[in-house]
Amino acid sequence: MGYKVAVVGATGNVGREMLGILAERNFPAEEVAALASRRSQGTECTFGDRTLKVKALEHYDFSDVDICLMSAGGAVSKEWSPRIAAKGAVVIDNSSAWRMDPDVPLVVPEVNADAVAGFAKKNIIANPNCSTAQLVVALKPLHDRAKIKRVVVATYQSVSGAGKDAMDELFSQTKAVFTLDEIQSKKFSKRIAFNVIPHIDAFMEDGSTREEWKMMMETKKILDPKIKLTATCVRVPVFVGHSEAVNIEFENPITADEAREILRAAPGCLVIDKREDGGYVTPYESVGEDATYISRIREDATIENGLSLWVVSDNLRKGAALNAIQIAETLINRKLIQAKKKAA
Ligand SMILES: NC(=O)c1ccc[n+]([C@@H]2O[C@H](COP(=O)([O-])OP(=O)(O)OC[C@H]3O[C@@H](n4cnc5c(N)ncnc54)[C@H](OP(=O)(O)O)[C@@H]3O)[C@@H](O)[C@H]2O)c1
Repeated sequence: MGYKVAVVGATGNVGREMLGILAERNFPAEEVAALASRRSQGTECTFGDRTLKVKALEHYDFSDVDICLMSAGGAVSKEWSPRIAAKGAVVIDNSSAWRMDPDVPLVVPEVNADAVAGFAKKNIIANPNCSTAQLVVALKPLHDRAKIKRVVVATYQSVSGAGKDAMDELFSQTKAVFTLDEIQSKKFSKRIAFNVIPHIDAFMEDGSTREEWKMMMETKKILDPKIKLTATCVRVPVFVGHSEAVNIEFENPITADEAREILRAAPGCLVIDKREDGGYVTPYESVGEDATYISRIREDATIENGLSLWVVSDNLRKGAALNAIQIAETLINRKLIQAKKKAA
């Protein structure tokens, strides 16, 4: 018997990717429901070679849903995830609403798959922020070998991380530059076309942004609370694919060659690191791919036991949709959930 899966936010960047990945991976779904706001009710979305009619979240009956993949933002999740969970569906949420809740596991299967077992307290599992997901996939195998003390990371985050309206804004601003039309900014606080913006999410009292705080706190929760991390998160005019320049200080010695070898064998990682023109991965090449790509691995001679690397991944996949579906697969493979009996 297959599972009934509901995708909430099915018309969004992440939701569309979720439908694509469910079909691609032959997820054992007997039925998939595409849900979004009332605005989208009756519109269509693609699921493999089928078309699904979008239904409104507020009118949907979740009684026979087994797994709800939620990607409709924090406010919607805060209101709806507990209600859906109370109907007996496991909610895997992409927003930041539940990530730091001690009763909600925050999971990247390559890193802390065992944590999924804690889902039953609230019937909710949280997916990390897109920048955190790809970072911890790269850090985990290195941490296991040489114990990470501190990480300094600068991100180069694509506009798709801010939703479909943000992608439209980059597109229309870019066009406006060439047609000499007025440039309008709604999603971003400054023009994003042919520019970079060192500001993602709200400012906090200490001068950092919530995106930077999330990377720090989520890395601690997923990987190790002892790891110190400082981030500068920057939005760049790239449609899809997040990049990160990462500097790591370890407790124990580790060479660039050792790191390369460890990362080559690590789950979810793909090392492309030729020290020549083009011998590295850029976000454009990561689009539509599942891997976290690691390039530019080198020793940092300015600190003891230091390494620098470049980490790139498709933020809509490993950073969101793929990770959520891998969590659902982990629940199924470990027999932690069973499909409900469906009404005939
Ligand atoms: N993009 C990423 O890289 C990424 C990574 C990690 C996590 N996330 C998180 O994933 C979530 C979705 O992101 P996104 O990029 O897919 O955003 P998006 O492209 O703006 O899509 C938002 C989706 O939520 C739906 N929605 C909005 N309000 C709703 C409501 N009241 N009831 C039901 N559905 C509603 C929208 O439906 P309508 O089309 O009907 O408005 C749409 O399907 C956010 O929480 C985001 O922080 C995103």
